[in-house]
Parts: sequence; structure tokens; C-alpha cells
Amino acid sequence: MKGLFLTLEGIDGAGKSSHIDALEALFKARGRQVTRTREPGGTPIAETLRTMILTQPMDPLTESLLVFAARRDHIVRVIEPALARGEVVLCDRFTDATFAYQGAGHGFDTAVLSALEQWVQGRPLQPDITLWFDLSPELAAERLAGARLPDKFESQPVEFFRRVAAGYAQRAAAASRFVRIDAGQSRDQVWQQIEAALAARGLMGSR
Ligand code: TMP
Repeated sequence: MKGLFLTLEGIDGAGKSSHIDALEALFKARGRQVTRTREPGGTPIAETLRTMILTQPMDPLTESLLVFAARRDHIVRVIEPALARGEVVLCDRFTDATFAYQGAGHGFDTAVLSALEQWVQGRPLQPDITLWFDLSPELAAERLAGARLPDKFESQPVEFFRRVAAGYAQRAAAASRFVRIDAGQSRDQVWQQIEAALAARGLMGSR
């Protein structure tokens, strides 16, 4: 069976992570092996880098290099082996987040990000499908308020998330692998959109 690389993206507070359990259950019910993972993270080295990235102030190039270093380890040790085994890889964020956060959010040079992407992802490795949870930054901020202690990115002002959201919209317009999910709807309606998107692309398989 061919591997399937599915990523979930969106600004903080858009609610993407709360659907990963259901996605895992859905694919498993259809007989697929599932690897669930996240970025930055997914390996011991990448999780160590995640802690640094999410807690320490640093300049945008350092941040981008650490994000891509974590990604390289994650790809080599987890993502590519799982895809080679024919598994479904469910990854909470991937390179689109780097273009949205470091590129659009912090204004870092996207030509440098593209060069790093080439180095780190080779061929390049790209997701087969990206569920983009689109929510207005104002609503996302309301959802995040008081939820938990915000990390370095979550504590950015709403203007930062407006730029990140615009970055995602730009990426989504340029690649057919993106599916826009209206994350402003109820949890059930969001799930229905996800199921419909997978079915429309023939990714549900047979029971
Ligand atoms: P999470 O809270 O969804 O796990 O994401 C961790 C944070 O890291 C989130 O605020 C987005 C940020 N991030 C980047 O800035 N660049 C990246 O490349 C990735 C993968 C995440």
C-alpha cells in the first residue's frame, strides 16, 4: 500500500490538533497503519529543539535553521521510513508553518526558506494533502485566551497572526494539495468538512 502524508496547518487556536485522534481512528478503521507526529518535534532531537524554539528568543535565521534541523531528523528517522512502510503519516504542522510563521509572520526571507527546504527535503518531500484550518486571528485569540500558558508564538499580538494567516492563504492558493477547512464552524461541522475532503480525494479507502 502506498504511504500517505497528511499535514494539519493553521494559526494557533484554529483547533487543528483536536481532530487528530479522530483522523487516526478513521484511517485505522480502514485497516491503515498510522504514524502520528508533530513539528517541531517527533524525535528526541527534534523535541529538544522544539523546547528551545518555543521558549527562547532568537533571531529569525537561527529559528529557521533550528526548525529545519528538527525537520531533517524527523524526516529521516520517522516520516520517510513510515511512508516507505505504506503507512499514513498524520503530522501536526510541517514546512508550510515555517513559511507562514518565520516567513510571513516574522518577515524572514522566503528565498532562504526555499533554499533550506530544498536542502532538507531533497526531492522535495511534500505532503499529499494539507488540511488548512482557517480561522480569523481575532476568533483564534479568543479561543486561546486563558486556555493555557501561552508559548513564545502564542503570546504574539493579533497583527502577527494576521500576517501568519495571510501567509497560509498565499501558500494554499499556490498548491492543490491544500484543503481549506472553515475552522469557525462547530467541532462536528469541522469534522464533516474533513471527512468530505478526504472522500472527495479518494483517501478514505474501503472499510
Ligand atoms: P503547535 O503549538 O501547533 O504544536 O505548534 C508549535 C508552534 O511552533 C506554533 O506556534 C507554530 C510554531 N512553528 C513555527 O514557528 N515554525 C514551524 O516551522 C513550525 C512547524 C511551527
